Amino acid sequence: MVDVILGLQWGDEGKGKIVDYFAKDYDVIARFQGGPNAGHTLYVNDKKIVLHQIPSGIFHEDKTNLVGAGVVLDAVTLKRECDSVAAFGVDYRKNLFISERTNLILPTHRALDKASELAKGTDKIGSTLKGIGPAYMDKTGRNALRVGDLLDKNFTTQYIKLRLKHQRLLDSFNFQEDISAWEEEFFEAIDFLRSLKIVNGEYFLNDKISAGNKVLAEGAQGSMLDVDFGTFPFVTSSSTITAGVCSGLGIAPQKIKEVIGITKAYCTRVGSGPFPTELMDETGDFLRNTGNEFGSTTGRPRRCGWIDLVALQFACMINGVTQIVMTKADILDGLKELKVCNSYKINGEETDRIPFQMNKLDIEPIYKSFEGWNTDIQAFANYEAMPSQMKNYINYLNEFIKVPVKYISNGPGRDQLIIT
Ligand code: GDP
Ligand code: IMO
Ligand code: MG
Repeated sequence: MVDVILGLQWGDEGKGKIVDYFAKDYDVIARFQGGPNAGHTLYVNDKKIVLHQIPSGIFHEDKTNLVGAGVVLDAVTLKRECDSVAAFGVDYRKNLFISERTNLILPTHRALDKASELAKGTDKIGSTLKGIGPAYMDKTGRNALRVGDLLDKNFTTQYIKLRLKHQRLLDSFNFQEDISAWEEEFFEAIDFLRSLKIVNGEYFLNDKISAGNKVLAEGAQGSMLDVDFGTFPFVTSSSTITAGVCSGLGIAPQKIKEVIGITKAYCTRVGSGPFPTELMDETGDFLRNTGNEFGSTTGRPRRCGWIDLVALQFACMINGVTQIVMTKADILDGLKELKVCNSYKINGEETDRIPFQMNKLDIEPIYKSFEGWNTDIQAFANYEAMPSQMKNYINYLNEFIKVPVKYISNGPGRDQLIIT
């Protein structure tokens, strides 16, 4: 049996915290897509840690963590991250497994990402520059090197061949930067990667499922950044939605039970692209400052705005979400009035559907206003005790989305979660 946790917005919904919270009920935690563009924040013994490549179940001693085939892996980031979790006493040599089909991010992928973004100028995606796009291009272009290739004695020859191909592309971009230092750390890191537990991820997982183990699939990014159904071209390069669990881990759709979708009580986006409910005023600044909305991976300020129910409903539809976790509700504590967007006005017409190419349209969000709760919700230990204004807000969402908000997160700590 497999349950899924994934983001319903443009990423950074708090997936790391929620996976860490739920991990206790599972045997295996598996990342199914994305790479070091992800930054999943956890608090372990009140100390903050941000994970980019390792699944967020790693701090539970007896749990298995798998990096799945659908992930793109930067060995340098992984090595660094293994060192930082080891400092917390984690035995990653025992609990961390890597699929042999996982695709490798090479130093030249990072260079190509940078060169491509520079060439795009003002049309840039706002990529994290971790090499994600070029690495997935080499996968679908059938050129990529995978973790299993590291065990082949001809790996260096294969690497040199692909590097040459990349160099020709870099030359066409007139990219002149010296990346020899990146290559040096890459070769050090792949030696480290070879020493980890490399497995056939699909048999590994399916055998565990057959033996009655429970698997939690951890998504990265968010549904609106999905390569097919997100706000293309301002998206990432992987399938961030439930379908990506099957293709990224090699498990069948019938095995999936609960799909737990994470949304903030408001909305953020980092990087370029359409964001109809973005606030360019002092409320936007309030959300950014109070919510500490600065990227976990790049440190960039996140764009902030009201929750967008058109996008949320769309995300629930394409993912088959069965329950919602609403995070960062505490950040709305200080606001007297709250707004939720429940339709868009495009060319004078109202719609509650996501249009083909949002970035080419002038979209006016239509809002419904709510009275804010205007009180510290960290003080409440259960949902019954919570202010009526918050219940009104949640009830409206439940009715609109038709998927229940089952949990409300009211702080960054592992146990700051209220069941509704
Ligand atoms: P992820 O990429 O989805 O895992 O999310 P990030 O870690 O990038 O960003 C979420 C941020 O919000 C992190 O700094 C979390 O510690 C923090 N966070 C998560 N849930 C809550 C919450 O309910 N309240 C507050 N105040 N912070 C939260
Ligand atoms: P987590 O897992 C928020 C955004 C980038 C950029 C676009 C493409 O922490 O939620 P890429 O590097 O993938 O080529 O960038 O996607 N992006 C994220 N935004 N959270 C993330 O991950 C993201 N990963 C990528 O900012 O707009
Ligand atoms: Mg993040």
